[in-house]
Amino acid sequence: MTWLITGGAGYIGAHVVRAMTGAGERAVVYDDLSTGLADRVPDGVPLVVGSTLDGERVARALAEHGVTGVVHLAARKQVAESVSLPLYYYRENVEGLRVLLDAVTSAGVRSFVLSSSAAVYGTPDVDLVTEETPCLPLSPYGETKLAGEWLVRAAGRAAGLSTACLRYFNVAGAARPDLADTGVSNLIPMIFEKLTAGLPPHVFGDDYPTPDGTCVRDYVHVVDLAEAHVAAARALHSAPGRDLTLNIGRGEGVSVREVIDRVNALTGHDRPPTVSPRRPGDPARVVASVDRAATELGWKARRGIDDMITSAWAGRLRPHPPAPRA
Ligand code: WQD
Repeated sequence: MTWLITGGAGYIGAHVVRAMTGAGERAVVYDDLSTGLADRVPDGVPLVVGSTLDGERVARALAEHGVTGVVHLAARKQVAESVSLPLYYYRENVEGLRVLLDAVTSAGVRSFVLSSSAAVYGTPDVDLVTEETPCLPLSPYGETKLAGEWLVRAAGRAAGLSTACLRYFNVAGAARPDLADTGVSNLIPMIFEKLTAGLPPHVFGDDYPTPDGTCVRDYVHVVDLAEAHVAAARALHSAPGRDLTLNIGRGEGVSVREVIDRVNALTGHDRPPTVSPRRPGDPARVVASVDRAATELGWKARRGIDDMITSAWAGRLRPHPPAPRA
């Protein structure tokens, strides 16, 4: 099959492209390079520079490359930015997806994998979040991901498109230093920022109802996540008419304090964190139930938090150009 991978020049997308081609699939990257880097697209994989809001450009790419499936990762993903720029987020993440789906269904593409997020759940009050846990997103970002899932399922049902919505939990790590996340908006890169500046990392709140008082999350290695996309793509291809919604995590909770301790230990630092007030909107605990992904895809994450930290740190130590936009 030939897969159009939107956002394939981004941090997660570049890993998905490599996982797909490594598994013998053909890939074409579609990316507007607003945050993606052309250097991340492997030799031999065509790069089409364009926005998913440009339906004609998408339609041409689908036809020219004989695309049979789409993995859609191109999106805006800063939660705080989405609060101040909700219309921009709805245009990019919802309207961009609607235009893409219009072109995809007109072109007769059979399979569609959507990059969704645990942000659709908001602040789930359960030990393990299943796909049946109510979706109550807290930010415009989370809303656009949930609306995106609705669009994908509705368009899939109407057009006979097989679909999978993958709800990523907290993604970290890198396959290689040059593929590491260049953003600094998540916990592990933010700890690195502080430590390399000679400053203590910040804990946002240590009075949560968790074992050590800090927030608990489900961190998943980006290489495991990329492999989940391959498994989803194959599952859609082998059984048309599917409509999958799956959590993609490890099913294990790690606290902020535990992450900081492991970063200190693995990077040769010894800086205890300082505690700041809670960050508004942060849930105490978000950990995935991963049973459905195991049953439906035969996929399970294999890499642990130490792998995520050491591979991300190797990327941090390697000088590379920053993305054009934060
Ligand atoms: C993790 C924990 C912070 C920095 C976000 C999005 C989610 C998804 C992943 C895209 C929280 C704490 C952080 C720091 C800290 N994004 N923290 N000190 O908020 O779980 O999820 O990214 O799809 O939708 O909401 O991830 O990495 O920002 O924070 O104490 O310097 O680390 O408060 O508890 P989050 P995060």
